[in-house]
Amino acid sequence: MQNPSCYGSGLIFSDNPFSNTRHLRLHFACGGDGWSSGVHLSSNQKPLGLFVAAAQTQPLPPHIFSTGTDENFRFSGTTKDSIPLDAWTHWKKLGRPKFIVAPMVDHSELPFRLLCRKYGCHAAYTPMLHARVFNENPRYRSREFSTCEEDRPLFVQFCANNPDVLLEAAQRVEPYCDYVDINLGCPQNFAKRGKYGAYLMSNLPLVKSLVERLAKNLSIPVSCKLRIFPGLQDTMNYAKMLEDAGCSLLAVHGRTIDQKDQKTIRANWDAIKAVRNAVSIPVLANGNIRHIDDVWWCLEETGVEGVLSAEAILENPALFAGYRLSGGCVLGNGEIVKDLRLDQGELVVEYLKLCEKYPVSWGIIISHVHKMLGDWFRIHPNVRDEFNAQKSLSFDYLHNMVFRLRELGVASPLCVTHTDLHRLNRNTHHRST
Ligand SMILES: Cc1cc2nc3c(=O)[nH]c(=O)nc-3n(C[C@H](O)[C@H](O)[C@H](O)COP(=O)(O)O)c2cc1C
Repeated sequence: MQNPSCYGSGLIFSDNPFSNTRHLRLHFACGGDGWSSGVHLSSNQKPLGLFVAAAQTQPLPPHIFSTGTDENFRFSGTTKDSIPLDAWTHWKKLGRPKFIVAPMVDHSELPFRLLCRKYGCHAAYTPMLHARVFNENPRYRSREFSTCEEDRPLFVQFCANNPDVLLEAAQRVEPYCDYVDINLGCPQNFAKRGKYGAYLMSNLPLVKSLVERLAKNLSIPVSCKLRIFPGLQDTMNYAKMLEDAGCSLLAVHGRTIDQKDQKTIRANWDAIKAVRNAVSIPVLANGNIRHIDDVWWCLEETGVEGVLSAEAILENPALFAGYRLSGGCVLGNGEIVKDLRLDQGELVVEYLKLCEKYPVSWGIIISHVHKMLGDWFRIHPNVRDEFNAQKSLSFDYLHNMVFRLRELGVASPLCVTHTDLHRLNRNTHHRST
């Protein structure tokens, strides 16, 4: 830090910036902003180390440089009241991501995340990882979790029902991500059998202890992805409980545990808005984001910080760059820009190249190809049948298949409107300033 305008030193009693149990209170004399100097210890905890600190007058909380026993800690904010401040400081440091790839088992893996990032996505979740298996099985770890330098900001999502197990898994990934996320929304039968995901909604004390354990012990913040309760007040109480337990960000899927069919049941944005108004930490909306119009609409309607997309972005990974599938291009006012260089085949080709660089299983690749080329296969089902019948696949085969489909004339360009381009540019400018 250059030219800090105030300094301090003392003992470290808690090294977690996102915990709500602070054992240390720092006040600085920083001319005119109401801070006084001193250190207030609120319990008789054993100190973790010594610190010296320096802070500039304006931005809070102060930056602190450790000279004590734990060289790796990061610290900002000091009291329970300052959790939202920490949560917002972190969120702003990440550039306030707005457009986010949702967690998807077998689908939000590294190559897909990188493809979406190239086309406008600001942040992404990994697929849900099973915390216990992650700890116990090195092959599962290396198969299911990979990342790289460009893959940030990144949420790593776990399912778990044991705080110790969850913490161990979280500590393995904390150097590689920006949030450790707890899956509180999976409604599938395997989650019911395993007693995790949305089935934790019937055991809120356990949910609280999962969040608290991470919040007190990780050096990065905890986020939760949750489903809503049928009753609005229950949903708001739930969100507030998560915030109080130390959660720094909520992604709210606006459907209940019984509303499993996200293609036919509309997500409840009113409930998302109510959560956004009930808590002080950043909130993201999930559900009903099919194209860029939905993104703008949802941001306006709910007032959330950002939106997640799952089903729709699988078909159109360029959704957050404003690209519409050709069916969505007819606006009738003649303002459409057709980008002839981009179609779903081109997105598949780019995805395949990323898979060659960052290998994933053929099962994952096959599923993405089906999602991205679904419209093309519907016109030429014989090509799909031949693809399905392959005993072993190669990248050459897949590239050639895209080429053949194009030769058959099925390609239709994705397109962007001038209005969206303008809005997206404004948004990019806003994020970088
Ligand atoms: C293929 C697939 C896999 C999913 N896997 C996960 C997951 O691992 N973790 C999770 O929290 N939600 C998972 N979901 C749910 C999505 O993240 C999202 O909440 C849901 O699809 C609603 O968003 P949408 O309306 O944009 O599809 C998955 C959804 C799909 C389609």
